[in-house]
Amino acid sequence: MLRRTFLQTTGTALAGTLLTDNALAAALAGSRKRVAMVGTGHRGLGMWGTSVLKEFGDQIEFVGLCDINPGRVATGKKMLGVKCPTFTDFDQMMKQTKPELLIVTTVDATHDTFIIKGMEYGADIVTEKPMTTDEQKCEAILQAERRTGKKVMVTFNYRYSPHRQKIYELLRSGVIGDVTSADFHWYLDVHHGADYFRRWHRRRENSGSLLVHKASHHFDLLNWWLDSDPESVYGNGQLNFYGKNNAFRHTHCRPCPHKDKCQFYWDITKDERLTKIYVDNEKYDGYHRDGCVWREDVDIFDKMAVQIKYVNNVQVSYSLTTYSPYEGYRISFNGTKGKIDAWIKEKQTWEMEPFDEIQVTTNFGKRELLRIPNTEEGHGGGDVRLRKQIFAPDGQDPFRQAARSRDGALAVLIGIAARKSIDSGQPVKIADLTSLKPQAQRV
Ligand SMILES: NC(=O)c1ccc[n+]([C@@H]2O[C@H](COP(=O)([O-])OP(=O)(O)OC[C@H]3O[C@@H](n4cnc5c(N)ncnc54)[C@H](O)[C@@H]3O)[C@@H](O)[C@H]2O)c1
Repeated sequence: MLRRTFLQTTGTALAGTLLTDNALAAALAGSRKRVAMVGTGHRGLGMWGTSVLKEFGDQIEFVGLCDINPGRVATGKKMLGVKCPTFTDFDQMMKQTKPELLIVTTVDATHDTFIIKGMEYGADIVTEKPMTTDEQKCEAILQAERRTGKKVMVTFNYRYSPHRQKIYELLRSGVIGDVTSADFHWYLDVHHGADYFRRWHRRRENSGSLLVHKASHHFDLLNWWLDSDPESVYGNGQLNFYGKNNAFRHTHCRPCPHKDKCQFYWDITKDERLTKIYVDNEKYDGYHRDGCVWREDVDIFDKMAVQIKYVNNVQVSYSLTTYSPYEGYRISFNGTKGKIDAWIKEKQTWEMEPFDEIQVTTNFGKRELLRIPNTEEGHGGGDVRLRKQIFAPDGQDPFRQAARSRDGALAVLIGIAARKSIDSGQPVKIADLTSLKPQAQRV
């Protein structure tokens, strides 16, 4: 029973009983949800560690933390201020701590192992996006979920921002009639975009490429907004800027002999938190968080274009560019009665305004500009709403934002299909990848 409910339902009764403070504390402690985490990096510790403890610390308790890097898991425990044991062996953690809920925040290509084993050990799963990185792993997750009866929740935080929620409402309102196509273009700048090429993400074997790691966020938004499943995908992609496309390179920024002339030089030691999480624990795994963006082993694309056809006949033109001077995106929904345009300027390079805009234009009609406040902390309050949906659900989900394994699968399958299409030069059908059958209306 949740602590609040426990207090509400038992408060009066307890006043007249002989329960001591200690017994009450024990009863309450026993009622908190037992949560474990695998992958105590930046995301795990922040979005799913500190924030969850702050907001739901009376309803959950961390019973175990696991990371392949023994230094990082010890750092994580200290940063979270929790008392639970730490592990480098996942099976040992699951056997010893028996969590009810497992949070998976490891490197993308390893998610499947922990999601599947986690359910087999009896836990429900909260996994960061992308749910996984190839179609075989995706199928294995779907089957394990069916077999174990446990559930997988995928943390698509992008769905929860007020601006995107408003777009969802407008599309459902019929103001632009039936949507027939969408144009979606996302720009990562030379800071944020470059960061993917510094880290483990630069290798397909870890991230599945940015078509999976990053674009799966965007593909999920499309699936959710358009309320249909993707049917076929065609992609183009190249590595034209980072990696081998430079005259000089080194291993990582700190010892680099080219730092004076490299515009991408970055001093990680100026960031105390990142230094504690990564630099101080390099000795255990040799991982450099400030890796050189020009390394020749980069094998992901840095510009991508994808055509998607949905089962409901909507067609989408999508692109992702990773070396823009500014950060943001633009999207247009073209309908039979009008058009919705929306755009976002991300914080890093723009002077922020306290709102994001949406323009609704009707055929032979008028143009209206809507301003959606964006000042609440954590993506306009979206992050908190997502965590509430997971850790204190009230059964309400008016915008159908809660994402399960099917949503996680369909988002990554578009990226996987695009990657395969780029490799083969042929369009790829989503139904050919796993046992999931795409539907005209999202189920
Ligand atoms: N939703 C979002 O907006 C968002 C933002 C950032 C990251 N993420 C996701 O969160 C996850 C973690 O990203 P991050 O930025 O924290 O990366 P990170 O490199 O900081 O953390 C990953 C951690 O996993 C550990 N790890 C790797 N392989 C492991 C294994 N086999 N067993 C145990 N631990 C292992 C690493 O040592 C590291 O501590 C990724 O899947 C990423 O896609 C999502």
